[in-house]
Amino acid sequence: MSTTTDQAPTPAAPDASDVLVEVTGLEVHFPIKSGLVFDRTVGHVRAVDGVDLSIRRGETYGLVGESGCGKSTLGKAILNLEPPTAGHVVFDGVDIASLKGEALRKERKRFQMVFQDPMSSLDPRQTVEALLLEGMRAHGLDKDKAATHARLRELMAAVGLPAAALSKYPHEFSGGQRQRIGIARALSVGPDLIVADEPVSALDVSIQAQVINLLQDLQDELGLTYLVVAHDLAVVRHISDRIGVMYLGGLVEESGAGELYDIPLHPYTRALMSAVPVPDPKVEDSREQILLTGDLPSPANPPSGCRFHTRCPWRQETLCDTERPQLRVVDVPGVSDSHRVACHFAEQIAAGELKPHQVEAQLVESPWGGPDDGAAPLTPPAADIGI
Ligand SMILES: Nc1ncnc2c1ncn2[C@@H]1O[C@H](COP(=O)(O)OP(=O)(O)OP(=O)(O)O)[C@@H](O)[C@H]1O
Ligand code: SF4
Ligand SMILES: [Mg+2]
Repeated sequence: MSTTTDQAPTPAAPDASDVLVEVTGLEVHFPIKSGLVFDRTVGHVRAVDGVDLSIRRGETYGLVGESGCGKSTLGKAILNLEPPTAGHVVFDGVDIASLKGEALRKERKRFQMVFQDPMSSLDPRQTVEALLLEGMRAHGLDKDKAATHARLRELMAAVGLPAAALSKYPHEFSGGQRQRIGIARALSVGPDLIVADEPVSALDVSIQAQVINLLQDLQDELGLTYLVVAHDLAVVRHISDRIGVMYLGGLVEESGAGELYDIPLHPYTRALMSAVPVPDPKVEDSREQILLTGDLPSPANPPSGCRFHTRCPWRQETLCDTERPQLRVVDVPGVSDSHRVACHFAEQIAAGELKPHQVEAQLVESPWGGPDDGAAPLTPPAADIGI
């Protein structure tokens, strides 16, 4: 996890033993059903649609992108909570889909999830002790009473709560404390990987830093690996070693955190970065402003070619509408070879050879006729884009 915000060193390419999670060609499609009598499948929501990424041991991989682009579904699929339609998730050398029964149950304790809303993810009828014991029991980790008691107190101490909290119920805690309980619950089974889905976005700003610091301290102490989905680009930059930017089910850019913020290459990433306010008014006035127009297209009917072409200010007449660009390393000054981008024209855009143009908003059609009703609402001004 990066603790600096400026010029973080660019991580080198991983060798195979560094990699804890390897995701290849991952797709998660949800069927869209219609009909009262016969349950017909009339289409699919392509929530995750061809993602390749690797997460290294001990790092924090940040995932950002607009609401509905598939971040949570990707996180769940990595944890085997959402079955993939296609592709593979290999965890520490083992293809998760190949595991069944006891083998899968054993492996499951190695990856855990921390949710956005601690109140809805904690059963209000259970004490903190019962909540923590639930997972430990499921994995056979409460065999010795004295050791379990010591472990529960240790977990409370690890997340900065007093041992007396064990006998209380979730509603007796503040939001930040509840998130600490959610983290303790994830830790209770001794995982290697934690997927934290918007872990601080439901918390007051004043509490967010405490929870982020707690996650960082736990990572240093326990050697944890994190996949963090986060809303706030400043939070993502602060905590991530590497960042993946998602758009409509796919990764469009991936890089070390510092380099992504210093040299964003994909037009979508540039638009996101330009929406983050800068405190210095002089810098704010002079920097690039890219306003995204139009809806986020429906993941049930994604645009052909580059999925961003309907909103891209640099869209070209060739390739953009017809060929889906793959993540690739580009030859751009200052850009390292661990920085990958899925844009046919990334080099020309970075060199300033192509100029941005006005984009007309388009009505998105659903695959079975009328206007789409399944995607995100009308796109707000760039500053409000949900990341
Ligand atoms: N169980 C499901 N059944 C059908 N569609 C689903 C299901 N879960 C998610 N989706 C759809 O898949 C797409 C991706 O959803 P997902 O929750 O992964 O996005 P997200 O990036 O996490 O969004 P947010 O930032 O709002 O949390 C959305 O269009 C969503 O409506
Ligand atoms: S491939 Fe074309 S449409 Fe897609 S981001 Fe690059 S320039 Fe824009
Ligand atoms: Mg989500």
